[in-house]
Amino acid sequence: MRIPLILEDRPINHSLSLIDTQSLPEEDKSVLQIWGRASLQGHVKISGAKNSALAIMAGALLCPEDCRLRNVPSLVDILRMGQILSALGVKLERNGDALDIDARHIGESKAPYELVSQLRASFFVIGPVLARLGVARVPLPGGCAIGARPVDLHVRGLQAMGAQVHIEHGIVHAYVPGDGSKKLKGAKIYLDCPSVGATETLMMAATLAEGETTIENAAQEPEVVDLANFCKAMGAKIRGAGTNTIIISGVPSLHSVDYSIIPDRIEAGTFLVAGAITHSEISLSPVVPEHLTAVIAKLQEIGAKVIAEGSNCLRIVPGGLRATDIETLPYPGFPTDMQAQFMALLARSEGDSVITETVFENRLRHVAELNRMGADIRVKGNNAIVRGVPLLSGAPVVATDLRASAALVLAALAAEGKTTIQGLHHLDRGYDNIEAKLRQLGAKIQRVPEDAVEETFTAQSQNTTPAPSV
Ligand code: UD1
Repeated sequence: MRIPLILEDRPINHSLSLIDTQSLPEEDKSVLQIWGRASLQGHVKISGAKNSALAIMAGALLCPEDCRLRNVPSLVDILRMGQILSALGVKLERNGDALDIDARHIGESKAPYELVSQLRASFFVIGPVLARLGVARVPLPGGCAIGARPVDLHVRGLQAMGAQVHIEHGIVHAYVPGDGSKKLKGAKIYLDCPSVGATETLMMAATLAEGETTIENAAQEPEVVDLANFCKAMGAKIRGAGTNTIIISGVPSLHSVDYSIIPDRIEAGTFLVAGAITHSEISLSPVVPEHLTAVIAKLQEIGAKVIAEGSNCLRIVPGGLRATDIETLPYPGFPTDMQAQFMALLARSEGDSVITETVFENRLRHVAELNRMGADIRVKGNNAIVRGVPLLSGAPVVATDLRASAALVLAALAAEGKTTIQGLHHLDRGYDNIEAKLRQLGAKIQRVPEDAVEETFTAQSQNTTPAPSV
């Protein structure tokens, strides 16, 4: 049998230049093989928050001087956002986890559709570009296929601030009409739902507007607070970020900044579940424990202990796994971005659980894949009824979205035998070097090229492929 070539620790194409607007990240066509039931131990370093970094990169467009961002994770989404900024005329340079952004000379030229269509957060550039230039053209966004995900709240908020907005051929055209000042005007905006992206778009737009803007029913997510802190560090006047009412007093211009991004609470939560599902004790840092309150509460209900060690480190101590019910909600409720990972955990817990997804309407597609691994989950509307099973079994599965791919990795870590996961481009959008981090904890995991898949799947059905020594 031909030995498949192992691509170790290369989740994304790091050779891609952030200032190269022509080349897109090549979609990773490899698959992940995981041999389950290895116990994990040790410490894992948590990367910077993807959703903060993406919004803050957009926020850097507000600043006509140099910005240095630190703790920026290595992710395909970050590369794509960098390419979108490049297309707007921004200069970017990456050194390790630092990203230097020079948005002195930006143009209204529209962000390329091929990029925006793959990354919902790229739409958030509409706020800062409109605030700075008085005109912006951005294609309607893409991102994970987890529901309709419209941008009506972004658009209505910009209109309330005086922008004229129309959508033509899939492109949102926005401009500030009038005498040539090209300044948005402060407004009172009420969001029908506390959308993270709309809160961020409108908060950024308001920093350079004339007068005061109030965003009511604003999102309270830590990433919104991080973006507000970044804008404040550049001289913006923002109060109330982290509550449901944010007040922004516009200023004429912003200045240069050196800013460090908060740790990724979803990556941290995913590793906490990895400890619980494999009955392993692991620690992780840096984290902001308060950002994980709902996740920690649910882990404790399920039977694991989560211990704070100092101000920015958590240790998970496993216990027996019991069923519990979960409903996803805007922050500080249980995050929708942790729903799939907890479904994998509850699939292995004793008893029946109900998971209710209230944030997105089509975010239960991982159920079918988890069931392929022996889980017993039924979907009724936006509820998943999870009957715990004593054992999951490895199977070939396909990741359907970013957090679904994490759920499959977690299920595979707990399953008997080998799991092969396809669709890694989802995983690489949001997890910085996940297999290296898991391997360091003792997981038996490797990435192999797609052309080894057929062979891999055949070998798997005969269950003859040995786990690699790690
Ligand atoms: C952000 C996060 C995503 C997370 C989500 C909810 C980023 C890059 N992504 O996504 O990981 O899952 O928050 O915590 O930060 N909606 C509207 N109209 C709008 C905007 C949103 O109806 O104009 C709806 C959406 O369809 C969805 C709900 O509001 O049902 C929440 O979406 P939103 O909070 O905006 O999520 P994103 O900002 O896209």
